[in-house]
Amino acid sequence: MNKFHNLLLENINTLKLLGIDFRIIIDNEIYENSSSNKKEHIKVQYKGKHYVEIVFFENIDYIFLLSLDSIVKDFCSIKKEKDIDEKILNFISNLKPNIKFKKTIENIKKTLKSTFSLDEIKFYLSANTKFFENIEFITSTERIIPYISCNIDKMRIPVILENLDLGYFVLIRNKGFTLYDYALIYKLNDYIKKNIENSFLENKFNIILDKSLNVLTIILETRVPGAEKHCENILKSAIKFGEILNLSNKNIQNLKFGSMIFDIGKIGIPEKILSKKGELTLEENNLIKKHVIYGYNLVSKIPTIPEEVKKIVLYHHEKWNGEGYPEGLTGDNIPLLAQIIGLLDTYYSLLEDRPYRSKLPKTKAIELIDSYSDVFFNPILVDVLKEVVKND
Ligand SMILES: [Fe+2]
Repeated sequence: MNKFHNLLLENINTLKLLGIDFRIIIDNEIYENSSSNKKEHIKVQYKGKHYVEIVFFENIDYIFLLSLDSIVKDFCSIKKEKDIDEKILNFISNLKPNIKFKKTIENIKKTLKSTFSLDEIKFYLSANTKFFENIEFITSTERIIPYISCNIDKMRIPVILENLDLGYFVLIRNKGFTLYDYALIYKLNDYIKKNIENSFLENKFNIILDKSLNVLTIILETRVPGAEKHCENILKSAIKFGEILNLSNKNIQNLKFGSMIFDIGKIGIPEKILSKKGELTLEENNLIKKHVIYGYNLVSKIPTIPEEVKKIVLYHHEKWNGEGYPEGLTGDNIPLLAQIIGLLDTYYSLLEDRPYRSKLPKTKAIELIDSYSDVFFNPILVDVLKEVVKND
């Protein structure tokens, strides 16, 4: 037996003395010290002049992993890798911080892929993480394992921020990972976490905003029963609108916010007018029209609401031909997002019962809107609407 084999056996003895649970296979010999049926934490294989398989059931000291890796590679005559500090430095310098969560994740994926020569890398967002970029990620309902785990050719890195299970990375390398790789990931994890944490601030802000806007929708629901469902329908279709029109993520997000609060000014309108069954008097009509101003004044007091969203609140009753309110803007002078929400608001209102009329079937609603294309509504948007609600 060579000296590396002896070194390996010495290490196995040390592990036993320390009471660490492990299973190490050297060619056909199995050395084991596992007292319970704990889950495998690290499982790696080395295939060279000899076969070595190492399993740990808990986190092992980083320095020990590196030294064991070096001995096993010598024993198996496998080429060793670069100095680990150089790799860490390289990784950090390539990891460009970004305020955007999605960009940060893409960046980390790219940097990990090149650092470890991965065949594949994926990020799964935890299904119960609610924020606005959800649609751009694969979501997972799996419980997040709170530690880095390695199973031969697959490594999982959890992303947990302040007790929030955000998601996890899955790294795949067909030729398998080693203890060196595990130790390296272990060291890099802090930098990965920091980067995600920084980019998460913007999303955190959006979550808070989303929650406060939700509260506004609930308040509106108490005044205008059915408002919540109405807003939900608009929100779903508004996202599709944004995608078909190739709007930026920021604007799709603004559409979502806008869908939730565009009619918030109605909380300032007396209930007896909102629920009146007969025709409204001119005076009552003028009062209802004020909801866009009331709403705008209200959301203007919340500095974190984006300007584009405030404009949705103010302009969602403007008409293409200038017959709308509050300013009688015409055509493209009406902000596009307000045009979209205004059109969807009209469409879904037609599908709902109102105190003064019964709901229309979908085909009739579309026909009616179509007859006002280029009159009240932007003809391009009317075409998009037909596409959006086609499969409703
Ligand atoms: Fe409105």
